[in-house]
Amino acid sequence: MNDLVVTNIGELLTINNHAGDRLGIVHHAALLLHDGTVVFAGAERDLPAAPGIERLDAGGALVTPGLVDPHAHLVFAGSRANEFDLRSQGKGYVEIQQAGGGILSTVRATRAASDEELLTGTLARLDRFLRAGVTVVEAKSGYDLTVEGELRLLEVLKTARARHVVDLAPTLLAHVPPPDADRDPFVRRFASEAIPQAAARGLCEAVDVYCDTGAFTLAETRTLLEAGARAGLLLRVHAEQFTHTGAADLAATLGARSVEHLEQLALDTPIRLARAGTVCNLLPGAALTLKLPWPDARRLLAAGCRVALGTDCNPGSSLTESLPLMMSLACMQLGMSCEEAWLAVTREAAHAVNRPDSGRLTMGARGDLVIWNAADHREVPQHFGVPLARTVVVRGRVAWTEA
Ligand code: NIG
Ligand code: FE
Repeated sequence: MNDLVVTNIGELLTINNHAGDRLGIVHHAALLLHDGTVVFAGAERDLPAAPGIERLDAGGALVTPGLVDPHAHLVFAGSRANEFDLRSQGKGYVEIQQAGGGILSTVRATRAASDEELLTGTLARLDRFLRAGVTVVEAKSGYDLTVEGELRLLEVLKTARARHVVDLAPTLLAHVPPPDADRDPFVRRFASEAIPQAAARGLCEAVDVYCDTGAFTLAETRTLLEAGARAGLLLRVHAEQFTHTGAADLAATLGARSVEHLEQLALDTPIRLARAGTVCNLLPGAALTLKLPWPDARRLLAAGCRVALGTDCNPGSSLTESLPLMMSLACMQLGMSCEEAWLAVTREAAHAVNRPDSGRLTMGARGDLVIWNAADHREVPQHFGVPLARTVVVRGRVAWTEA
């Protein structure tokens, strides 16, 4: 049996959505986890007697649900530090990509790497996510660009998921058209073979298409997403990052679960996304790295959209596992409140990855929690760029604790 009591919590975020308090804050709180699930979350004075159970004293600190990252490119090999340096001296991301670098340079390194090498890199990234307080990560394939190769990357993710405590929500990504194959036959094979096979083998829960200049057209994106819907997968779209393509409107029309980036948003799109219930995964790490305009979080929130935050962890446009840093950027540059930033990495991100038992600490929730080196939830986005997680519990067991 795996039982745990956490006592002496100064501030607990249950994400309980009380009227007027969407974070469900409880002071002087305690938690009781039974078999990896929350069975009590509330004021410490109401904690049921739990003799003989492992106890964790939070020392008056902030305790929150484990964070959920709804957008990461987790499995890849190689380094693009050289491009980072070139970009810092003014070269453009799309310019580098069109010269055969960028995503294609990671594709070459990934194709050349063994399963074991890819697994080692993926597990190391998951260790860094865990230390940042993240317990669920959406994980995309996308750096092989062949049908067989993309399925291999999903197999690596499946092994990583079995080996690591951090939960993965795998996504098959149609990233860019391969330079070494004809475009139309590739789209047809991706739709008729990669997507149905990945779904039938249980290798992914979602399909994602990158629609932009240098990636897939709007018509190709529709073909691929419709194949995903036929295979029963959740739909995601990398939309409106560099150029406005109409992909976010397509996402709303097809009832996509999430839409990513949105730096170049058209005026009437937010209301369509709000009506569709599509989660807007904002990725400030990519906007920061590529010097893109910040996504307009305020316009999305004002229209009633669901807004989540992701790291976009990838070797090119956002090399980070720090979801707390994305919260800082959201508060400092996107005009989001601390409350909105917390909801964006808990409830909203959990909905984006279809994990209704994550991103909250209420009865029946998964026992994933973080004890922070902070007393107040606003300190986490305020204190930026340094790791503040003290102890991370996954399914009722301590998975990591600072030395
Ligand atoms: O989400 N926008 C496209 N794909 C990734 C970048 C991938 C890369 O540069 O390797 C993104 O930003
Ligand atoms: Fe991405």
